[in-house]
Amino acid sequence: VSSSRSHSPPRASSLSERLRKKRTLVCVGAGGVGKTTVSAALALGLAREGRKALVVSIDPAKRLATALGLRSLSNDPHRIPARALAEQGIEVEGELWAMMLDSKGTFDALIERLSPDRRTLEEILSNRIYRELSSAVSGSQEFTAVSKLFELHREGAFDVIVLDTPPSRDALDFLDAPERLTNFLEGRALRVFLAPGGLARGLIGRGAGLAISVFARLTGINMLGELSSFFGSLSGLIDGFRERSRGVQTLLREPATTFLIVSSPEREPAEEASFFHDRLTEMGMPFGGLIVNRVHETGLEGYTPEHARAALTDAFGEKLAAKLAANLADFDVLARRDRDSARRLCEALGEDRPVVVPDLDGEVQDLAGLARLADRLLAEPLAGEQQLVGEREEIGR
Ligand SMILES: Nc1ncnc2c1ncn2[C@@H]1O[C@H](COP(=O)(O)OP(=O)(O)O)[C@@H](O)[C@H]1O
Ligand SMILES: [Mg+2]
Repeated sequence: VSSSRSHSPPRASSLSERLRKKRTLVCVGAGGVGKTTVSAALALGLAREGRKALVVSIDPAKRLATALGLRSLSNDPHRIPARALAEQGIEVEGELWAMMLDSKGTFDALIERLSPDRRTLEEILSNRIYRELSSAVSGSQEFTAVSKLFELHREGAFDVIVLDTPPSRDALDFLDAPERLTNFLEGRALRVFLAPGGLARGLIGRGAGLAISVFARLTGINMLGELSSFFGSLSGLIDGFRERSRGVQTLLREPATTFLIVSSPEREPAEEASFFHDRLTEMGMPFGGLIVNRVHETGLEGYTPEHARAALTDAFGEKLAAKLAANLADFDVLARRDRDSARRLCEALGEDRPVVVPDLDGEVQDLAGLARLADRLLAEPLAGEQQLVGEREEIGR
């Protein structure tokens, strides 16, 4: 891995080329595969290419957050000063902006925007149930993430927005979030259930009914009453939610939007990536490419372990050379496993040109590291089918 590699103009088959006309990039994938890191690196890379790029980051690791100047939760985009970048030897022709998503704040702001008047707003915000709801139901971050994206996109202040997505066990959570929330709020069953004298008694049964009234006596919280008044005040907002949900759904399917699936070569993330790809297709959302992150690079570089040992003996002595060669052979096993699973993943996704990013070993959490990662992501020619087929033969025999 060369850190001195300057960013050369993107080649025809690079990811950079593919993303040229895109304005919204959504990085999805299993937890821990590098979505947050890749999102930041992509934004940096695109800024370097002259675009005004924003990364919307979710739960960045501390060092990354610091590198991006995201000291506290702030719902507003903030520019990484050109000077800070220049100090790391990074020249940015465009602008790099970053923000960290504060899901609770976004939800409150959304409610504020949608509320017809101050009183309704205060009623909702002060409601215990709302507080529960905003952190539990919608605050499962997905809704607020896409909602914020929709707003930023509509404001049009950036050339390109890279959206990191929350760690979710089920990738569907993210795509379905706006609809789920709308459905939840519109939930007729729920409201009928909650209406005074409604179906509550019959549906929840006597035991639950008793529990609710005991709860009310113990805590002073009239749950049914609170819920009813809560849904009463929310009912005026539902149109706003529905409209937003539709806006988001449209945005996610625009030609200028693209989903990048990030995966590691490990089995579970790869399975999730493949599942996610199917869902994207099903839902008519654009798949823009596969990024296989943290792939181990080969250790033996074509040598057999015996040859490697012999080649290393002069410099290191017999004992150490044997150790080193064994070590490199271990790396080779990892590298082969990774290539193999990357290839299978590509087949599953019908992707013949994945972006393969090596494991950069903890060097990706500062601006210089992001720049290196951006080189690998954007400017490298994509790994072609031939290369993968070649690998397969090598692996198979
Ligand atoms: N190519 C890479 N090489 C080395 N470490 C990486 C690479 N990509 C990501 N990491 C590290 O992996 C960890 C998880 O990355 P993160 O971006 O937070 O994943 P996610 O957002 O998908 O949960 C972080 O510590 C990050 O620095
Ligand atoms: Mg993350």
